[in-house]
Amino acid sequence: MKNIYAIIQLNEHGFDILNSKNMQLEKTFIQHGRLSTYNHSLFVAYMSLCIAGKLRIKINERSLVRGALLHDYFLYDWHIPSTENRRHAFDHPRRAWENASQDFELTECEKDIILKHMFPLTLKLPKYRESYIVLLADKYCAIYETLAWKRTKRKLSFLEDYLGKQTIIS
Ligand SMILES: [Fe+2]
Ligand SMILES: [Fe+2]
Repeated sequence: MKNIYAIIQLNEHGFDILNSKNMQLEKTFIQHGRLSTYNHSLFVAYMSLCIAGKLRIKINERSLVRGALLHDYFLYDWHIPSTENRRHAFDHPRRAWENASQDFELTECEKDIILKHMFPLTLKLPKYRESYIVLLADKYCAIYETLAWKRTKRKLSFLEDYLGKQTIIS
């Protein structure tokens, strides 16, 4: 079922991020399978809003969207071996936060979402409800993208249509 409310929230709170130079650059980095980091982040933000809607708990939707969109803002292709990304799974949340805080004004909640999205790998417990939601959405999307590529592609095409954006889903 399509969640139009989630798309409206995505557009309202994430428009500047989605159209920023470095976020557009994420279209050239592969995250899972054939999916770009841009599309993965868009999918995680959408699913985070869907999960929040199902839970019916009070959250800050703006922080949820922005933290989710920026959670993997590490800005390199982790499939290409380099000394910098040897410990990618452990180090990329900090890298994403460093990059994101240079490009955008982040709230404490958004910082927590980005830094803790790999919990338990990152050891410290998330502090906010929004962080737990993104953590859950990220794991769900990673599995979905890997096991259901065609359905992921369909869901993303629908998101793109509504957001009026062009991306590089192939
Ligand atoms: Fe990540
Ligand atoms: Fe992710």
